[in-house]
Amino acid sequence: MQSNEIRSRFLAFFEKRGHKIIPSASLVPENDPSVLFNTAGMQPLVPYLLGQEHPMGKRIADIQKCVRTGDLEDIGDNRHFSFFEMMGNWSLGDYFKDEAITWSYEFLTSKEEGLRLDKNRLYVSIFEGDENAPYDQESKDIWMKMGIPENRIYALPADDNWWSPGDNGPCGPCSEMFYDMVGNTGDLDHEGFLAAVKKETVIEIWNDVFMEYEKKDGKVIGKLKQKNVDTGAGLERMTAVMQGEKSAYETDLFSADMEDFRNNCRNYNEKSARIILDHLRAVLLMASDGVIPSNKDTGYVMRRLIRRAWVHLNKIGYNPIGYVLENITAILSNFVDTYKDAYPELLNIKASNYKIIIDEIEKFKNTLDSGLKEFEKGTDPFILATTYGFPIELTLELAAEKGQTIDLEDFKVKMAEHQKLSQTASAGMFKGGLANHNEKTISLHTAHHLLLAALQQVLGAEVKQRGSNITEERLRIDFTFDRKMTDEEKKKVEDIVNEKINAGLNVIRRELPREEAEKIGAQMEFGAKYPDMVSVYFIEDAPHPDPLLVKARGHSEFSIEFCGGPHVTNTKKIGHFKLQKEEASSAGVRRIKGILD
Ligand code: ALA
Repeated sequence: MQSNEIRSRFLAFFEKRGHKIIPSASLVPENDPSVLFNTAGMQPLVPYLLGQEHPMGKRIADIQKCVRTGDLEDIGDNRHFSFFEMMGNWSLGDYFKDEAITWSYEFLTSKEEGLRLDKNRLYVSIFEGDENAPYDQESKDIWMKMGIPENRIYALPADDNWWSPGDNGPCGPCSEMFYDMVGNTGDLDHEGFLAAVKKETVIEIWNDVFMEYEKKDGKVIGKLKQKNVDTGAGLERMTAVMQGEKSAYETDLFSADMEDFRNNCRNYNEKSARIILDHLRAVLLMASDGVIPSNKDTGYVMRRLIRRAWVHLNKIGYNPIGYVLENITAILSNFVDTYKDAYPELLNIKASNYKIIIDEIEKFKNTLDSGLKEFEKGTDPFILATTYGFPIELTLELAAEKGQTIDLEDFKVKMAEHQKLSQTASAGMFKGGLANHNEKTISLHTAHHLLLAALQQVLGAEVKQRGSNITEERLRIDFTFDRKMTDEEKKKVEDIVNEKINAGLNVIRRELPREEAEKIGAQMEFGAKYPDMVSVYFIEDAPHPDPLLVKARGHSEFSIEFCGGPHVTNTKKIGHFKLQKEEASSAGVRRIKGILD
């Protein structure tokens, strides 16, 4: 069964059962600053899962475009894709476990309307229960009513069977369906089942989430107003199952291009071929949703993917037509053919001859060869970034392949300096990067560390940084906290920062293994990835450290943060801190701006 038939069968099946079919939302969420891209089908529906009325009613089905770029290193294996599509059906306060499970089972197995999968090759998991919700006997009973034998129903803990989009939002226990890819695996005990999933002889194909709970700051705080169902079946994975392949790269979604690579590369390797196709498909879909390569946010993700695809194209020596950009255009056009019925917006990108993508490659292409040569010579990552356009992540990846380590700290310091000189003030290369590097910004940077620690002291140790930005005039911090701060709290925070400034505390930088830094409670930027060795800034405490913080962290520094610097050497040099403004930034995130006067 071809991918497009899986799509149309899925939508027709749920339409017949009272669901309204809605088009995929854009890859870039409109009103949700907590993520760069939609990472699951439920994301654009969050307001409706929380109780707002959906204009199309209480039963919805769709196929949502998603992007996840958290694990770029895993791309090229059988399961991870940066872009993927998620088929889903939703009950927004309407049906619950009974219908959801019954329909999942029927869609998977029905000969007329579904996927005709063999029911003897199915396994399912349910939630085993914890302090938030009980053992899911109800789902188990429904699965048994469907004919799944009890010994093929596995109760698993929250790590596997509790689904939520992050630390905040609707969530709940889930029940997942698995399929035997070998065909004769038969009965498995609990351990055998887990081992088969690990080996990928049995793979997960669908997740039914019973969303009746809500999470706040990582904790389940209670039940929602309504019981929802959120289901998600990855189209890539389902297509692989339907075509009896281990990975989607061998299905109609990719196979023509994979074949072409195998026949037309001087230096073929499977992983590079997969990376190229994964990345080109993702950037094509991003372009069709209006993303433009840049040094920031979604644009930076896109830029990284394009450059990485280009590096791998060079590595495998793919060049059947001769003019290499035409080869890329041909690959992109194949994807447009595969996806144009589902996403007609791709035709606009084709009409522009993929200008957005090709221009970005043109910019990078001429410098790449010389850049790679420079890399071989051991050239400074800073030069590679500024002269040859190598995103630091790319340099890190090339270095890891060779077992070399990169001094990220040194890179950041040089980049900060460079940005001052070039006056670009672009902070996009690394989160919270300094726009400028003179005395004032350095002082503001150290004040920023003091401020985070003071916020944790006044509002609670669970306050975490969610973003930062420093200019010559002011600092800005975004942090997790779910209400307005009182005037008294603001005053207290301001006073603590000034007290620590006046105490003349030493600021010390140490290089530590990442694990050790984590162990001593060094604060890190949310979502950031760190190398094995990290630079950590300590602000030593005055003789009377706060006993609670000492207890929580096991030592007496006032502030410890993963950070590339630069900082003042003693807080005395900072001057006087003034908290200027405290406001909402996004759901559950507050923003403070502060100055030194
Ligand atoms: N939201 C659920 C998932 O992404 C269905 O797995």
